Amino acid sequence: MSKRRVLLTGAAGGVAQLLLPGLVDSYDLVLTDRRPVPGGVTGDLADPAFLAKVTEGVDAIVHLAANANPQATWDELRIPNVEVVASLLATGVSRIVLASSGHAMGQYVTNARVPVDPDWPVAPCCAYGATKGFAEALGQAHAYRTATSVVSLRLGATSAEPLATSALGGWLGPADLRQLVLCALEADVRYEVCPGVSANTRSEWDVRNAIGYQPTLDSEMYADGVPVDESWGLCR
Ligand SMILES: NC(=O)c1ccc[n+]([C@@H]2O[C@H](COP(=O)([O-])OP(=O)(O)OC[C@H]3O[C@@H](n4cnc5c(N)ncnc54)[C@H](O)[C@@H]3O)[C@@H](O)[C@H]2O)c1
Repeated sequence: MSKRRVLLTGAAGGVAQLLLPGLVDSYDLVLTDRRPVPGGVTGDLADPAFLAKVTEGVDAIVHLAANANPQATWDELRIPNVEVVASLLATGVSRIVLASSGHAMGQYVTNARVPVDPDWPVAPCCAYGATKGFAEALGQAHAYRTATSVVSLRLGATSAEPLATSALGGWLGPADLRQLVLCALEADVRYEVCPGVSANTRSEWDVRNAIGYQPTLDSEMYADGVPVDESWGLCR
């Protein structure tokens, strides 16, 4: 059987680089980014002609491209994090996996209302988190009204190793990231949201989900070595 053709957006970014080894064997990948990426197609997803070209013939999209800066202003976020998501959902590709963020639920963590239940209403801690919450809602509406099924992944602090003490609770390590996205691509669901964090001892997140994701990594194994920095992570 031929492999499913999967478009990976934001393929030059940090998360994509950690994710790619987990996808290459299973899918026929199309890589794209505004910045050059080896073997990829370079262009801006906000350009309708470019979007139509890269989505043609794909079976699924893993959408990572965004302005990923939690300090970004609305003007900087509107096109990459809102308009592009709307255009991407409108392509009608049958499975779309959206990179959401823990910032969509950031108020719960900053108010110490933890562990955060994935079923609670979106409560962003910043404009960036609000764009992610909106993208989740638009994805849910598309899954309800069209043949497109959508999985939103509320990614935590995604890195090879935790970068600071304040990231220990919300860290998502590489093996778990890869498992998470594979589950999101394969799960038999119409719309789901799934927390994207590892099985961290200090976790502030309830990782209960309906896509079969079972994290195995624990940031605690790095706890003695990480820099003490409580300002990193969600907007406090
Ligand atoms: N890094 C994290 O810890 C983290 C945590 C939570 C959520 N996320 C989300 O995961 C995704 C990936 O994050 P990242 O850290 O890899 O970010 P990144 O900034 O490293 O990569 C994002 C990529 O998207 C590309 N891009 C942005 N707008 C584009 C457009 N209009 N057309 C084409 N390409 C465009 C950029 O060129 C960049 O290479 C983002 O959606 C981010 O919001 C990341």
